[in-house]
Amino acid sequence: MDRFIIRGGRPLRGEIAIGGAKNSGLKLMVAGLLTEERLVLTNVPRIADMDTMRALLLQHGVAVEDVKGDGGTLSIGGSITGTEAPYDIVSRMRASILVLGPLLARCGEARVSLPGGCAIGTRPVDLHLKGLEGLGAQIRLEGGYIHATAPKGLTGDRIVLPFASVGATENLLMAATLAKGRTEIVNAAREPEISDLVECLNRMGARISGAGTGTLVIDGVEALHGAEHRIMPDRIECGTYACAAGITGGDLYLRGGRVDDLGAVVRTLEEAGVEVTSDAEGIRVRRTGALRGVDIMTEPYPGFPTDMQAQFMALLSVAEGASMVTETIFENRFMHVPELNRMGARINVHGSSAIIRGVHGLSGAPVMATDLRASFSLILAGLAAHGETILSRVYHLDRGYEAVEKKLSACGALIERVRE
Ligand code: EPZ
Repeated sequence: MDRFIIRGGRPLRGEIAIGGAKNSGLKLMVAGLLTEERLVLTNVPRIADMDTMRALLLQHGVAVEDVKGDGGTLSIGGSITGTEAPYDIVSRMRASILVLGPLLARCGEARVSLPGGCAIGTRPVDLHLKGLEGLGAQIRLEGGYIHATAPKGLTGDRIVLPFASVGATENLLMAATLAKGRTEIVNAAREPEISDLVECLNRMGARISGAGTGTLVIDGVEALHGAEHRIMPDRIECGTYACAAGITGGDLYLRGGRVDDLGAVVRTLEEAGVEVTSDAEGIRVRRTGALRGVDIMTEPYPGFPTDMQAQFMALLSVAEGASMVTETIFENRFMHVPELNRMGARINVHGSSAIIRGVHGLSGAPVMATDLRASFSLILAGLAAHGETILSRVYHLDRGYEAVEKKLSACGALIERVRE
């Protein structure tokens, strides 16, 4: 397993290109199941989860061609020859559950492994299943698998989500594009990745309105056709590197970043003493004065994103004063705390909240990544710490961030990957 060796204490200065969004690209690949024709995606991030999704689509008989040979443009197409999503793939990547709706809509059946839990929580899929039953699917759980059928196809209906679940919204949205009649998804998630998916589906001939609002209205059509779509920039990657500028007292230009996608992140950065300015091409983030403690509560978009919580925890651990971070989305997303404390942070967890007392500085230490965003939280701490930090289990990071050591080294960071 690869490790990173980081020598901290240097302000980051320079430019970082923000890649395509993992949490949009994965779903756009699944959207390729909704048509026999070719869906071409550009601005594709080269990350492990996208490779896992390619393997899953191949499992269904749908080929994913690397058009330019550099992983940046994928062409998805072909007939579906299998409707089973096996445990060994689904357990590795929870987003696999999103093939359920499209397979039901196209083939009238699907056998998808229950994803099981993951490091940050139990991650049930009850809202996905209840919603699909609302569209006329019959669902049976047996042997750790979801057995779903819709012999007469799916029929549109009004689905009210008790929680604005991103995945449930996406599964139902894709299923509804080929259902008979109109579907309304009320209390739908409003994340920018949902709007990106809606834009792509409409380009494929779907009839969807209400993106970005709490209610999506989908009028089912007979079939979708091929299209080309550029994946939106990754707002979480952008916010993560903004924290890198903040924690090192640096000055970074994040090319491709979009301020509107960042929602509450910009406000919170500014409250913490980080300066954010933007132009048509990207976002400039710098910090000249002291970092200040702020209180954060994670919420569905446009609230503060849970995927930025671990990164902010690192930033606030060296702020002046105290901060309180409350995680309302996942039940176990504080695993970076013990590792940060080993580097000298002073963080106490009380249930779903963590109290952070800012310290003057962190010290490098050997630490272990536990999940995707926690792994970058530890990199941020290492970039600010005195001395050397060794981060193990970097495979967590490689799932969702592209070329981290290259992007950071180009801005003055002393970071290298040790392959084992
Ligand atoms: C997506 O996960 C993202 N993953 C997550 O990013 C992100 O943290 C999350 O949305 C929230 O923004 C992808 O897009 C691939 P949810 P998802 O359904 O769809 C509960 C990252 O780091 N819930 O909005 O699984 C669930 O347990 C990842 O990139 C149910 O109870 O998120 C959780 O507590 C991590 N029943 C909460 O809702 C359900 O049927 C949020 O889940 C579905 C969800």
